[in-house]
Amino acid sequence: MQGLKILGTGSYTPELTVTNDDMAKIVDTNDEWIKTRTGMSVRHYNNGEPSWYMGTMASKQAIEAAGISPEDIGLIIDTTITPDFHTPSTACMVQREIGAIGSIAMDINAACSGFVYGFDMARRYLMTDESIKYALVVANEDLTKLVDFQDRGSCILFGDGAAAVIVELSEGMFTSFIGADGNGTKYLFARAAVPQNPFITDRKKYSDGMPEGRDQYLFQDGREVYKFATKALPNAALKAAEKIGLDINDVDVFIPHQANIRIIETAAKNMGVSMDKFFVNLHEHGNTSSASIPIALDDAIRTGRVKRGDKICLVGFGAGLTYAAAIFEY
Ligand code: COA
Repeated sequence: MQGLKILGTGSYTPELTVTNDDMAKIVDTNDEWIKTRTGMSVRHYNNGEPSWYMGTMASKQAIEAAGISPEDIGLIIDTTITPDFHTPSTACMVQREIGAIGSIAMDINAACSGFVYGFDMARRYLMTDESIKYALVVANEDLTKLVDFQDRGSCILFGDGAAAVIVELSEGMFTSFIGADGNGTKYLFARAAVPQNPFITDRKKYSDGMPEGRDQYLFQDGREVYKFATKALPNAALKAAEKIGLDINDVDVFIPHQANIRIIETAAKNMGVSMDKFFVNLHEHGNTSSASIPIALDDAIRTGRVKRGDKICLVGFGAGLTYAAAIFEY
């Protein structure tokens, strides 16, 4: 089977930290509520660093860890819901900064499942185009620019950051299960800029079915997302394993989307897998959307939790509503 070998990983975590007590200064909340309901303690906010900058720093680290030359990167997939520009893509910005000129470069948006979508996509490109030697999959999120700091139910959850991997095709096990349910678009969204075209006469004609809210901030129906997540997460992992007849308990380490410790615990229980197999670092980062899984992966590799030969399951869910799992050998 054609697998995907991770040659190097990297991450970027902004220095600015915001504790639960800091959150309590701006909304009616407290450390105990946040810890018990989410498991989170600290999140990192960018202090002016743009998405492309965070992605670049993470990519440079991944390139160094892989020991490759940036000119040999043939594909850059940047996953983000918080690009700095509508155009050019963040991938082109990162490409410019790392010096991988000539590679394919594009952004994809699958929200918090984005990195797993991108990881899977990289393999498909590598399998169909022999001229691509290495691919860079980088996730960068400046989520705090979307966060509604008047909504205590959501603002406490999110943080900023980036992470990247350099991959190449190699013999090995690989399976994925990826999808979306657009019926859930209304449960988690942030509206794009409202058109300023002065000739529009009927802005309200085309209803998008989204609830009215504070436009351009992230809206979240926490309970609906929670319900979806606790089903989608185990389902994606199990379906990916099933595709190749793998027993889910043969996975050595699960790197789940770091959205809420209760979601991860429920998913583990529903899958019949011990929580010990789940790598969790959300207490230090909060939810960094598509960057959350690769930040955790980089953390798990650098701290020795993930070792060469381990079977890894990356599994996430997010706005869309999307879900994605990929199982491979590290
Ligand atoms: N501090 C204190 N109280 C809070 C609070 C906060 N930060 N946020 C909400 N509350 C209150 C609510 O107002 C509610 O009060 P009420 O009972 O008086 O109405 C109470 O806590 C319970 O709210 P509820 O929404 O039922 O809490 P919950 O246990 O479902 O936890 C979330 C809320 C957001 C943590 C949880 O629903 C969740 O994690 N959802 C998924 C979110 C997610 O993963 N998003 C990203 C997806 S990629």
